[in-house]
Amino acid sequence: MTAPTAVLREMRWWDIEPVLELEHELFPDDAWSAGMFWSELAHARGPQATRHYVVAEEPDTGRIVGYAGLAAAGDLGDVQTIAAAKDQWGTGLGARLLTDLLRAATAFECAEVLLEVRVDNTRAQRLYERFGFEPIGFRRGYYQPGNVDALVMRLTDPAQTRNENPESSESNG
Ligand SMILES: CC(C)(COP(=O)(O)OP(=O)(O)OC[C@H]1O[C@@H](n2cnc3c(N)ncnc32)[C@H](O)[C@@H]1OP(=O)(O)O)[C@@H](O)C(=O)NCCC(=O)NCCS
Repeated sequence: MTAPTAVLREMRWWDIEPVLELEHELFPDDAWSAGMFWSELAHARGPQATRHYVVAEEPDTGRIVGYAGLAAAGDLGDVQTIAAAKDQWGTGLGARLLTDLLRAATAFECAEVLLEVRVDNTRAQRLYERFGFEPIGFRRGYYQPGNVDALVMRLTDPAQTRNENPESSESNG
């Protein structure tokens, strides 16, 4: 039987614990701490908000199966994090999360969106390329302690990005 489609909703402080579990599984070398998520969520609400964080939740079980976050500074957006539980890979959840971030970038009136991705993370790079991100450079030794380089990718005009998924009614504020 196929698992029901996860629902995207705003990430709240009570999601930090399950998100951290996924974080440690998916980023074993450089997982974010709880404090980092708390600090991000502190800027995610109200008229001065500069962050947009979303989780993907399975409706029947309440299990958190993905999360993503965007930071906006002026007209520049930055994908802070994006991840889907391994058993969700290849289902389009990554694309749904990214679509949600780009919608938020449009709401923040970002003219472009940047991100860093490990040079060896071809799966994530494929996802970004599908959405029109282009490589613009490298950050040497960006990921520590492994000393892995980051590829920097940029998407210009996120408002023009075609939505891969027909769920435009799904809104997270
Ligand atoms: C990065 C990450 C979110 C991408 O997830 P993903 O499973 O590759 O992405 P999607 O869920 O959009 O699935 C895309 C694949 O599923 C296929 N697919 C199947 N059904 C689909 C659907 N309904 N919509 C879109 N794609 C679908 C696509 O064709 C694509 O196949 P391909 O990988 O052979 O090209 C995920 O790999 C992850 O969490 N990785 C660990 C954390 C990480 O590295 N994050 C990025 C840090 S920069």
